[in-house]
Amino acid sequence: MNWNGHVAIVTGAASGIGAGIAVCFAEAGAKIVVADINERLGEQVTADLQARYGKGLFVKTDVSQVADCKGLMDATLAAYGQIDTLVNNAGVNFVKPTLEMDEADWDRVVDVDLKGTFLCSRYALEAMVERRSGAIINIASVHTVATLPAAAPYAASKGGVDMMTRSMAIEFAPYGIRVNAVSPGLTDTQIWNDIQDAAEDAELARQHWMDNIPLGRVQSPREVGNVVLFLASEQSSYVTGANIFTDGGMTIQLTNRERFASKSLDGMAPQD
Ligand SMILES: NC(=O)c1ccc[n+]([C@@H]2O[C@H](COP(=O)([O-])OP(=O)(O)OC[C@H]3O[C@@H](n4cnc5c(N)ncnc54)[C@H](O)[C@@H]3O)[C@@H](O)[C@H]2O)c1
Repeated sequence: MNWNGHVAIVTGAASGIGAGIAVCFAEAGAKIVVADINERLGEQVTADLQARYGKGLFVKTDVSQVADCKGLMDATLAAYGQIDTLVNNAGVNFVKPTLEMDEADWDRVVDVDLKGTFLCSRYALEAMVERRSGAIINIASVHTVATLPAAAPYAASKGGVDMMTRSMAIEFAPYGIRVNAVSPGLTDTQIWNDIQDAAEDAELARQHWMDNIPLGRVQSPREVGNVVLFLASEQSSYVTGANIFTDGGMTIQLTNRERFASKSLDGMAPQD
């Protein structure tokens, strides 16, 4: 695929998975818009993209604010004239028991992860409908099928993103616009550092997670970026409304564990 002239917006691209996705697009040859609430990191990532690939535009954006989402689309159209791909990646998460949560905790997650995905899509779609083409890729999570305790707003948001993806996919298919989700498993970002830092025994925590990931390792942000790039490309021209898991097999293992635990595997393993 020829990416020259392709314009991709990535929200939350100032760090972690979003920064990895932005590099994948820039490396392929696309024009990339870095949209993030963190001005310092956003400018830094954009300067790096410009130095390495000769392209990159930073637009300071809080995806939970209507004016910022509209402003992001306006700035992109003013600079590049079109929007080919929107990647809704900006997200926040924290673990807290439900009975200790207040309304502000709920709003903090749902406003960014769910409402932000809706708002950015809503305003990008205006430009995409006009051109009768476009791709939206929503970064969801393994929480869409295998969630954890003390993650109610995050699980609700990511589950909502999955269903919103399907609804928009069928609504905008007649306009040639595809809408898909990507659900990453454990990825090497600040979240993974926080998990290890918070554990009493970091090695034990690491082992626990590795035991639940058939591929036995954490993925890099670029590995998520490669799947996103596929969904933005012509290679996935017949894929819409999908939720693709890039999780090293974790969700399969977690959702099948009970079933396997109830059966003996004796005699089912390959013989030497
Ligand atoms: N890291 C993982 O293991 C993992 C697993 C599954 C899903 N995810 C999802 O991937 C996405 C990226 O996560 P990450 O691990 O890279 O996190 P991260 O914290 O490294 O990056 C998130 C980015 O979003 C930005 N952001 C936060 N609030 C914003 C707002 N209101 N407006 C605009 N930008 C905002 C932050 O400044 C940051 O740059 C999230 O949607 C997250 O839920 C991550």
